[in-house]
Formats: sequence, C-alpha cells, structure tokens
Amino acid sequence: MSVCCRDEGIRASRRAAGPRGAEAPLTRRALITGITGQDGSYLAEHLVSQGYEVWGLIRGQANPRVRQLRQLLGDVRLVRGDLLDQGSLISAVERAQPDEVYNLAAISYVPMSWQQAELTGEVTGLGVLRVLEAIRVCSGISASRSPARGQIRFYQASSSEMFGMVRESPQTERTPFHPRSPYGVAKAYGHFLTQNYRESYGMFAVSGILFNHESPRRGAEFVTRKISLGVAKIKLGYERQLRLGNLSARRDWGFAGDYVRAMQLMLERDEPADFVVGTGVIHSVEDLLERSFKAAGLDWRDHVVTDAAFIRPAEVDQLCADPSRARDELGWEPKTGFEELVAMMVEADLKLLSSGGYAEDSFGADA
Ligand code: NAP
Ligand code: GDD
Repeated sequence: MSVCCRDEGIRASRRAAGPRGAEAPLTRRALITGITGQDGSYLAEHLVSQGYEVWGLIRGQANPRVRQLRQLLGDVRLVRGDLLDQGSLISAVERAQPDEVYNLAAISYVPMSWQQAELTGEVTGLGVLRVLEAIRVCSGISASRSPARGQIRFYQASSSEMFGMVRESPQTERTPFHPRSPYGVAKAYGHFLTQNYRESYGMFAVSGILFNHESPRRGAEFVTRKISLGVAKIKLGYERQLRLGNLSARRDWGFAGDYVRAMQLMLERDEPADFVVGTGVIHSVEDLLERSFKAAGLDWRDHVVTDAAFIRPAEVDQLCADPSRARDELGWEPKTGFEELVAMMVEADLKLLSSGGYAEDSFGADA
C-alpha cells in the first residue's frame, strides 16, 4: 500500500525534541484503543498525569460510555474507528500522530467468545493485525524499509488466558500457551503477531501478558464485579441471591490502576520485550466470596447459588503470575493487595447503588 499518512516534517521535529531525544521534552502523544473500557480509562488518567496528550479511539455512532469518559477525563481527544475497519484505523493514526499506541480494544468477556467465536477472532485477533498494519503503513515501514528513529511504539494487551491449561505454575514469559477459549486463542494470535512485527519489521511492538485485574470500573459481567454488585444489592435489600458458576476456579487478581503503570513502563524501555504482569498471589472464587460478603457484614453461604448456566465449555482452573521480570527490569510492583481491592469494590458498589447509580452501564462510583 502506498498510503503514507504521516507528516514526516512535524513528526521528525517533535521526535527530535521528544523525551527519548536529547532536547527539552515536548508532550508525548498516545492513542488508546479500548479507551471506554476499564483499562482504557485508567491508562488515560495515568498518561494524562504523566503529561501526555491522550487520544482515544471510539466506535459506534452513539457510544453511551463517551459521556462517562468525558466526565472522568475532560481533556482526552477522541477519534472514531473500529478494530473491524482497517481504513478507520489508518485514519485514526494519521489524525492523532501518536508516539505510542496502546491496543486495549477487544471482546474481552471469555464466555462471549464461545457464543460469537468468529467475531471474537475478528476483533480480538485480527484487530491486532489491523492496528499494527495502520502503524506500519502510516510510518512507511516495509520489509525493505526499517522504522526510523522515533518510530511509533506499540503495546498489545495480551492475556494470561493464553496460558489456559497451565503447563507450569507460576507462569512466566517463557511458559507455553494452551488456550482454553476462542478468546484465549485470539489473544495468542495477537501476541505472536506482535512478536512477528517486531522481528519482521524491527518495530517497537511489545505485549503485556496481564493477569486478571479489577476495579470499581470493571464490567458487571466479570466475576469480581458481579460479586461486589451482588453484595451491594443484597445488603441494600434489592436482591436475596447471587447465581454463579465454578467457585473453585483460582485467579491472580490485582488492581487495574496498578497494571496500567506497567503498560507505560514497557514502552519506556530501550529495547522492546514482553512482560508478565500480576501479583503472584492466587485466590479461589470462594475466597473472593468470603472476603466480599464479609466486607458488608454478610455470609456468602446464605446467598450464593451455583448455576450450571455459568459453567464454561472449557475452564481455566488456575492462573498465577511470576512477575519477577517486570519487577527486576521495569521496577514495577503492585501497590494494592487482594483484601484492599475487594474492600474498594464492595464499598464503591454500595455507594453507587445507594445513590441511585446504574451499575451495568457506568464506570461505577468513580464516574
Ligand atoms: P473492557 O473493559 O471489556 O474494554 C474493552 C474495550 O474494547 C472497550 O473500550 C470497547 O469499546 C472496545 N472494543 C470492543 N470491540 C471493539 C471494536 N470492534 N473496535 C474498537 N473498540 C472495540 O476490557 P478491559 O478489562 O479494559 O481490558 C482491556 C484489554 O486488556 C482487553 O484487550 C482485554 O482483553 C485485555 N486484558 C484484560 C485483562 C483484565 O483482567 N481486565 C487481563 C488481560 C488482558 P466499546 O465501549 O465501544 O464497547
Ligand atoms: N464471569 C463469571 N461469572 N465468572 C465466574 C462466575 C460467574 O458467574 N462464576 C464463576 N466464575 C469463574 C469463571 O469460570 C472463571 O474461572 C473465573 O470466575 C474468572 O472469570 P472472569 O471474571 O469472567 O474472568 P476470566 O478469568 O475469564 O477473564 C478475565 O481475565 C483474563 C485474564 O486472565 C478477562 O478480563 C479477560 O479479558 C482477561 O484476558
């Protein structure tokens, strides 16, 4: 493709003066796909606090999350685009002229990936290809033309779900993948493709293999938020029961606000590399229930019902990170422990629901 959307003159002068150059830093610019999601909102906040100019990719003609995002972060600039639409991604990169692209957009709910496997492959898998191609084309990179100094840096949101039926525990950057869902398979495709663009074209393209991370902004369909909302509804007398699936699954749960720092640190490095990001501490869904109900003075055994409707065709029984490399080479460590995270989420949902907030379509009590 012969499209070259970059204004090389502006880019070159901005880069020469950029934070990785020798002269006084100008504002770094980041483009975030998935900015209306949990991680997108925290990452945007973090980057703004670091002095970045933040651009977010927004899809749909009337996305209800945009208003909430604006309330949370007034100064983010928005550009339309969809991971299903190559041309829109090229236009978005052309318009934002980013120094860094964070690809957080995905169909991220694992059960949905069985119901809409093809769509999940298109968005969560091939979507990564389209974003990388947009960067490659806009930067004028080809097999015979390597990126210039000051190239666009790319972060891919890879997932511990790729480890699936784990071959060893804890999992490191070298643990082989055995994904257990169409989502996990699509993420593995995006992960290998990111490595491949790094190796084929010399692009600064990296993946963060992030373990489960949660917050009051977590989607209501994920187990931590489903539980914190369930606790709040039961405590406030709106409901009596909470229906769940496999209570013995175990996860390494951390706080999303901590994990977005690791994303940015990965793009700060001199050399591109992939990192596992997690806490190294594992809990079962049952532990999560115990702690969440207790935070509201309740006993989960009085309220939780197991329901086969929430059992998955193939389960990931346990995930536990070995985040040594992130600690040693990025200087990254989580600040928020499991108990603090659970208390934060239950407290936020009690506050949200008691003030008449609508949980399923908002950034929770944060917005
Ligand atoms: P999330 O809350 O589900 O957000 C997903 C985002 O993707 C939303 O902003 C959504 O936008 C956007 N999106 C979906 N389809 C799109 C499309 N076709 N084009 C453009 N945007 C689209 O996910 P999250 O928890 O923030 O996670 C962020 C990323 O990290 C995801 O890629 C996820 O798979 C990955 N990850 C998450 C975790 C975790 O524990 N949270 C762990 C490992 C990896 P709309 O508002 O338009 O729907
Ligand atoms: N969602 C949900 N709902 N999960 C339940 C339920 C329920 O009613 N009952 C039990 N679980 C169990 C699931 O079977 C799973 O083993 C565990 O709780 C966690 O489920 P989720 O919170 O839906 O997260 P996930 O681990 O499947 O996926 C999340 O983490 C991945 C990283 O490991 C998502 O954020 C993915 O996008 C992410 O890549």
